Amino acid sequence: MSSSLLSSPRDTVLALAGSLAAAVVAYAAWSFFLHPLASVPGPLRARLGLGGWSTVRAAKRDFGWKLAALHDRYGDFVRIGRNDVSVVAPGAVQDIYKYGGPIKDKSPFYQFFKVTKPSLLATLSHDEHALARRGVSPAFSMHLLVELEEFVDACFDDLCAQLEGQINKGGGKATVDMGDLLQFLAMDVVGELAFGRSFGLTKAGFDTSAFLPMLDAYTASSCLSGTQPWARRVLHWWLTRRLGSSGNVALGQKAGQAVALRLDELKQAQESGDADSIRRDILSKLIAAKNPDGSPFSVEQVKVQANSALGAGSDTTSITFRALLAYIVADPAVYKKVMDELEHAFDEGIIEFPISHAAGSKLLYFQACLKETLRLHPAVPWILPRVVPKGGAVIAGRFFSEGVNVGMSPFVFHRRTKAFGPDAHKFRPERWLEASDDEKKALERNLLTFGSGNRVCVGKNVALMELTKLAPSLLYRFKFSFTPRSPSSPHKLPGRTVDGKVDEAAPWFCESQWFAHQREFFCDVEERAV
Ligand code: HEM
Repeated sequence: MSSSLLSSPRDTVLALAGSLAAAVVAYAAWSFFLHPLASVPGPLRARLGLGGWSTVRAAKRDFGWKLAALHDRYGDFVRIGRNDVSVVAPGAVQDIYKYGGPIKDKSPFYQFFKVTKPSLLATLSHDEHALARRGVSPAFSMHLLVELEEFVDACFDDLCAQLEGQINKGGGKATVDMGDLLQFLAMDVVGELAFGRSFGLTKAGFDTSAFLPMLDAYTASSCLSGTQPWARRVLHWWLTRRLGSSGNVALGQKAGQAVALRLDELKQAQESGDADSIRRDILSKLIAAKNPDGSPFSVEQVKVQANSALGAGSDTTSITFRALLAYIVADPAVYKKVMDELEHAFDEGIIEFPISHAAGSKLLYFQACLKETLRLHPAVPWILPRVVPKGGAVIAGRFFSEGVNVGMSPFVFHRRTKAFGPDAHKFRPERWLEASDDEKKALERNLLTFGSGNRVCVGKNVALMELTKLAPSLLYRFKFSFTPRSPSSPHKLPGRTVDGKVDEAAPWFCESQWFAHQREFFCDVEERAV
């Protein structure tokens, strides 16, 4: 054997490194010139197939405005990963999400959004999802909504008591982190509806079981891991170390206790023949739910669905509530119109306390403010990716081949002039009131805040009921202004808008990852004379 083949370890390492570099270059060249997405513009690293653009956005929590900037630069189609395309052409809503359309399965990005067993959100296969959703749907039906209202009202009473307590302590005015308080409220509502009782956070005025860091770690880790599935363990470990996860244990215990207690109550009611004594809420419906083979949901399945409702329904509703309050308070003309409408409705006897869902739906200007909030500050700004099936698919006039992941970001799409007109960037509730019936249909079709098609949010009606009742009630009982930033104010973070602009006048510090969370939403609150 020649001595040149028996090279030194250094030569071996060099040879290996050379081969690796050659492979990376060949792969990057293939990805840039030959990949089916080679003609789609986008950041260089995505076109070279190196990935990581979405991962960096997820880690920095600046997804929405960075993606908007890419679409401003490259147009309706942007390649954001080796195999991933973001689309903002209006025709794509139907082409990607339509019921019964060719595109069916979710992309693997969603795979980590599960608790212990696959939740609805994390079920990738269209067919498996359709079966699972059939079982869960009765728990979120329109018929049940009216029965849920009294539990939502009870949470509002806790909110009023908490605010009144702080205002009395402050001698008639209090500086309150409305961000946290509205999240406590949304969590307590899910507690009432899906766990059989409120978690008591609003009443306590603080996060008694460290739920908030747990929820943040869960969604942040799921989103980040979805962009780099191979690194899931490391990323999850890192995030839970950083953000804490003791709330996980508390939540598991709460879900277990809730189901056990309700099963006990059901047994007692059956024995005494008093079925009316059982609360008619989401938990009861989940316990009564059936699998496709007719077998009842197991205790584990009920717990998973209750936990999913908390994961999917508390951040989203509180983000929307904060944004709604902020858009109204920020503009004195809008604030006055909302209050005039409310007072008129009270004077005319159209509404009374507690404000019902039906009555709140008649506040047309308020409802337009809610729609405009859902449009400009969608709780989920991330793209909602789906897999192109066998044979490929045409999306907004462009062909994509099998296996490509395509999706639309509600945040970016809602700001496109082609979808919402030349003033798409502006908060203008009137657009929903002035539109003709046909225009309104188009506006509604383009509103992706709750998703679209067969994967549309199952809790949409619950969330809208909650916001329609509670936001006008809160505005009627209390007067709000943003706490000005100063060296003595409680703010620690700079102001940052939902568009990523650093602005001292912004009422919060906004992030943009899976959720568009607002941090430090401090308001000065007083009671109104009513
Ligand atoms: C303003 C409030 C809400 C917003 C903006 C919102 C938004 C969304 C979005 C964007 C999706 C995902 C669609 C997709 O991946 O394509 C979703 C799914 C889901 N949401 Fe909501 N949501 C809200 C409130 C709620 C509430 C209150 C609950 C439960 C009590 C809930 C439970 C769920 C569930 C279980 C899913 C998965 C549905 C499925 O895949 O079949 N959401 N939501």
